[in-house]
Amino acid sequence: MPQQIILDCDPGHDDAMAILLAAAAPELDLLAITTVAGNQTLPKTTLNARRVCGLAGIRVPVAAGCEHPLVRELRVAANIHGESGLEGPTFTGEPDVPLDPRHAVDLIIELLLASDGDIVLVATGPLTNVAVAMRREPRIVSKIRHISLMGGAWGLGNRTPSAEFNILVDPEAARIVFESGVPITMCPLELTHQARATPEVVGRFADLRTPVGDVVVEMLRFYGEAYRRLHGEGGAPVHDPTAVAWVMDPTLVETRLAHVDIETHAEFSYGRTVVDLLDVLHLPKNALVGIRLEVERFWDRMVEAVGSYRAP
Ligand code: RIB
Ligand code: CA
Repeated sequence: MPQQIILDCDPGHDDAMAILLAAAAPELDLLAITTVAGNQTLPKTTLNARRVCGLAGIRVPVAAGCEHPLVRELRVAANIHGESGLEGPTFTGEPDVPLDPRHAVDLIIELLLASDGDIVLVATGPLTNVAVAMRREPRIVSKIRHISLMGGAWGLGNRTPSAEFNILVDPEAARIVFESGVPITMCPLELTHQARATPEVVGRFADLRTPVGDVVVEMLRFYGEAYRRLHGEGGAPVHDPTAVAWVMDPTLVETRLAHVDIETHAEFSYGRTVVDLLDVLHLPKNALVGIRLEVERFWDRMVEAVGSYRAP
């Protein structure tokens, strides 16, 4: 039986790749896409999720969630994802995928309470929706089979020297999720930086010669240019699909069990994931931390997924 998942995201170029992988993987049953403010404002991340679904003919509920983090003001990543949040491709008009009238938090709660406790939550943006759902309906905590999330780092951050963007946008939400007791797989920057969209990788999507493959090329070219401009590195890391990949095939991601805390008070390391990989504190281990990616097989699966979307 395919693993049922809910994908909570903030599209975002790499979130878009996560959507395309999640909807195409035969090992997965994508029940719904929920959106959150992060890479861009909520209206923009939600429109982008609908655009990707419209492009690929993905027909699942798309519901909008929280517009603001729990405590701090929203900070977006227009410097990476552009003003629309998905710059590069040209999308025209309204997507033919409707916005679900339910709030994302209500949809997450509804699906989880109606389940047998076998749904995996995949989160590739700030954890605001997940945390609010846990607080609004604590009964869902025991109904979440596993959370696979992209976020954090045990070393350098990417938005501050200490903090990775998803966690930094809403550290208080991340703390609620990491302290919830739900089994977590965390895909940190050290893992996702192994998923580089090199020119060879981009060329594999171009070689598909399909409308969806061409849009992926346009997305990756914009995203890659933004990374080159900001970080001077070639081949932008496509972070978010790694969190989907672990659910789809756990052999794609080598993990290590560790205790992870979220810094929510410090001045300079606010939003840091404090990952006790050496187990110096002997505290309960609350997360599988992604260490190594099976890079070749990961890209094979990504190209296969994108190639599965043929022109309507
Ligand atoms: O730090 C990378 C993460 O922040 C990714 O999820 C990217 O989409 C942005 O949300
Ligand atoms: Ca994201």
